Amino acid sequence: MRWLGTLAAATVLQLAWCAEYLLPGSVVPLHYDLKYAFDIDPNTNFSFYGVVNILLNVKKQTSKIVLHAKDFTVSEDGISIMGSQLYKVVGTKINDTYNLMTINLDGQLVEAENYTLTIPFYGHLKPGLDGVYISTYVNKQTSEKEYLIATQFEAISARKGFPCFDEPMYKATYTITIGHHKDFTAISNMPLERASEESAIADTWSWNEIENAFKKPKSDFMWDTFEKSVPMSTYLVAFVVSKFSYVQSPAELSTTKFRIWARNDAMDQTAYASITGPKALSYFEEWFNVSYPLPKQDMIAIPDFAAGAMENWGLITYRETELLYDEKQSSFLNKERVAEVIAHELAHQWFGNIVTMKWWSDLWLNEGFATFAASVAVNHVEPTWSADKSYAADNMLSVLNLDALESSHPVSVPIDDPKRISEIFDEISYRKGSTLIRMMTMFLGNEIFRKAINNYLRKYSYNNAAQDDLWRELTAVSEQYGVLPRNVSVKDIMDTWTTQTGYPILTVNRDYEDKSLTIQQRRYFSLSAKSSTRVSWWVPLSVLCEPEARGKAPALQWLADTEGGETLQRFTHASDRDQWVLFNHDMIAPYRVNYDPRNWQLLTAALKSPDYSHVPVMGRVQLLSDAFALAWTNHLDYNTALNLASYLQREKEYLPLSTGLKALAKIENVLKRTPDYGAFQKFVRKLIGETYERAGGMAAKKILNAKDLNSVKMQVTTSAWACRMKVPGCEENAMQLFQQWMDTENPDENNPIPLDLRRTVYCVGVGRGSVLAWRFALAREQRANVAAARDALLQALTCTREIWILAQYLEWTITEGSEVRRQDAGAVIANIIRSPVGYYVAKDFVYERIDDIYNAFKGQARRIGHIIKILLDQFTTQSELDNFLSWRDKNAKYLAESKLSVEQAIEKAQVNINWISKNRRAVVDKLREFST
Ligand SMILES: *[C@@H]1O[C@H](CO)[C@@H](O)[C@H](O)[C@H]1NC(C)=O
Ligand SMILES: *[C@@H]1O[C@H](CO)[C@@H](O)[C@H](O)[C@H]1NC(C)=O
Ligand SMILES: *[C@@H]1O[C@H](CO)[C@@H](O)[C@H](O)[C@H]1NC(C)=O
Ligand SMILES: *[C@@H]1O[C@H](CO)[C@@H](O)[C@H](O)[C@H]1NC(C)=O
Ligand SMILES: *[C@@H]1O[C@H](CO)[C@@H](O)[C@H](O)[C@H]1NC(C)=O
Ligand SMILES: [Zn+2]
Repeated sequence: MRWLGTLAAATVLQLAWCAEYLLPGSVVPLHYDLKYAFDIDPNTNFSFYGVVNILLNVKKQTSKIVLHAKDFTVSEDGISIMGSQLYKVVGTKINDTYNLMTINLDGQLVEAENYTLTIPFYGHLKPGLDGVYISTYVNKQTSEKEYLIATQFEAISARKGFPCFDEPMYKATYTITIGHHKDFTAISNMPLERASEESAIADTWSWNEIENAFKKPKSDFMWDTFEKSVPMSTYLVAFVVSKFSYVQSPAELSTTKFRIWARNDAMDQTAYASITGPKALSYFEEWFNVSYPLPKQDMIAIPDFAAGAMENWGLITYRETELLYDEKQSSFLNKERVAEVIAHELAHQWFGNIVTMKWWSDLWLNEGFATFAASVAVNHVEPTWSADKSYAADNMLSVLNLDALESSHPVSVPIDDPKRISEIFDEISYRKGSTLIRMMTMFLGNEIFRKAINNYLRKYSYNNAAQDDLWRELTAVSEQYGVLPRNVSVKDIMDTWTTQTGYPILTVNRDYEDKSLTIQQRRYFSLSAKSSTRVSWWVPLSVLCEPEARGKAPALQWLADTEGGETLQRFTHASDRDQWVLFNHDMIAPYRVNYDPRNWQLLTAALKSPDYSHVPVMGRVQLLSDAFALAWTNHLDYNTALNLASYLQREKEYLPLSTGLKALAKIENVLKRTPDYGAFQKFVRKLIGETYERAGGMAAKKILNAKDLNSVKMQVTTSAWACRMKVPGCEENAMQLFQQWMDTENPDENNPIPLDLRRTVYCVGVGRGSVLAWRFALAREQRANVAAARDALLQALTCTREIWILAQYLEWTITEGSEVRRQDAGAVIANIIRSPVGYYVAKDFVYERIDDIYNAFKGQARRIGHIIKILLDQFTTQSELDNFLSWRDKNAKYLAESKLSVEQAIEKAQVNINWISKNRRAVVDKLREFST
């Protein structure tokens, strides 16, 4: 119900503003003058000294200042406050629950006055992935281990870097000064203003004191001061101190000075980013119709990085695999990923950085928008890739999966504990968010949408906004153009999508006599729902009727939010009794559609006819996805779903084929350790055998010539499936290729395996090979200089079937300084869990070593949630789930930050278990029937 949803959200928000974990707001920061001296030296334990001068404005008379601080030592004697009157600090208190530091004064600060608060602090940096942390790499020329300092402050880790008002609302300007050894270079959000040999913190810390810790002379150090920033939230502050180099992008691509930074050995992998970055930036300036406000943009590849990338204003940090691209070692898919991530982060420079959400509940505004906008920019930079279609399908299909759980959450999510903020950086915020943004562009039209976004960006520049502020701008412009049904605002429509959990299933029943049909909407669940609340949505209907399939797309209609959902709504259409009707043409919004049996028959016949392309690509994607999902939840029989899917033998487009295969992968997942797996393999072999040959099989020649992403993806996907399904020759070819590589002289230079097929070939080679093959792959992994190549090998190592090797590999994921980097540990564990043999080893490992895993993943606890999700998705029996539940009760403290994920994981396991008991027999019979 729209009403309830809206009310509930509003109530929570109100509560939030006076909640105990939030800053009181009686003083607000205007400017930070932040200074550091860093010693990047393991021998002196990476010690640092800092001081921050915060210019404060008093909103409400108070005798105490509350701000955030965590993980460093504050020199309490040194705290002072300056203003028109003198105050003494009479005590400070730190509360670690919410990382709050309270400074008590001997008098009341005067409303509307400014004061400068000075706080000295010091400590040691640690290897980690958030706050200000140490990252390492090996210089390939000298074989020396090198260190660098990097930052990751989103969501709530700026407080680990310096004392600050660490909530997105408190925007302020920054002047940052960094003292460092002369061998290093410092960069930050803004350009360098001046470099000096004079200590910038001499007023606070004498060099004697510093030298005691650093054990180096003052003359070794440089002090770099960066220009004053624009007003921004704490989570966007960034700096890096390293021995990296940079390339500057060609000046003609952008008026902004654009540089790509990486370790020296990786400089030859920066070319693609140095072109793509400025192209995307210039395009966004045009698209948003707002210029990029800073004089420069740096992008840097950090060897240890928790997320994919971080949109710090003017200094975007990346994982190496997301920024660097090597012609000879990275695949086409790596290149696609680099373009997407660059575009995503650059979109944030406007949406997120210029205008920021008020509180993390509206994180989806940031992430959904950037995810959507990435497809717009990639479409411009790489027009042959059809990024708009492929991202839209990708995002929507994963939303439809996750959001069908009862334990899902609304995109606009109340957050009552800052520890749980990291949990909502999930698919719902990113992918459902972007799906909803795209939906708006489709029902409003691009022109109206962009105009409203432009108004929004201008109105809230350097400020914060909530989703209602965005709805207001969109409603205003849409009213000028009269695009919406009378009386309905963008807010009316969008609230049904952003404040309610889940999405609808439409049940369409045609009346074959009079070209009409009725539609009923209900919330869609992957398990029969326990909750009986009726909800409904404003659903944009894009309906394609067979007679219109070659002509102009029909106009959009609306299915009303009936505040209860059960009412039938009647529509007319253009199809005769022997012609099909297809809903959600172009996948305009996240919903599923079920039809009466006759319309399913008509659609299936259309797909099985030689002219299946009359049903547009996105329509084929939607149909396949819906049919399998509905069959999975017993809304449709498997005969219909599998019959419809059988046309895939002839499908030439990647998107529908991969959609069908992904749907089948769900069945594979629950059958892969049962005696029925053989029947499943046989069915899929029949489905993809020919396509695999047509796409090029394991042949290198074909793929080297391929220019278009569609055909590369066809070959990559079909060959991975072909080997797994034991299509004759596939594994043999892969093993041959791997053996050739093992026999090659200087294998680090010469790799005979076609680039895009390497992941598949490596996995077969390691999986079918001996310990020798594993050691060979490990050695290549350790010498690799291209992160994408290293990543492919790291994952391939999980394909071995040697139990003891898997056990050792798992051990490495929690061992500091081992072969597995912190940033990769989660992915390695997840991959071992998914593998048929590894599952058993990994399950024991998770159960028995959760304390060690928890400690190793400090600061990225949501990875534990991810691992639990993958683990429980493998469950097919009640006893597996029961074991988990009793284990969970005993280990609750390790799962505190992953509550939501654990709930979702349990529901998913339950879904699998139900499926096995209800559907396994019937499905296996059908698979057999269709493969003969
Ligand atoms: C810290 O704050 C929390 C929440 O306000 C409170 O429950 C707790 O008692 C405080 N702890 C200390 C040591 O003051
Ligand atoms: C406080 O500082 C801001 C920023 O420098 C300035 O614009 C404002 O006038 C100051 N207010 C007072 C009362 O001094
Ligand atoms: C190094 O720093 C860590 C982290 O602050 C600290 O626990 C440790 O005692 C320090 N070791 C030395 C030798 O100073
Ligand atoms: C861009 O913004 C300016 C206002 O700054 C406006 O005059 C102009 O029409 C806008 N351009 C487009 C294409 O909307
Ligand atoms: C629609 O507008 C009419 C007249 O302006 C008004 O009486 C009616 O209450 C509105 N309906 C809704 C659902 O807002
Ligand atoms: Zn983002």
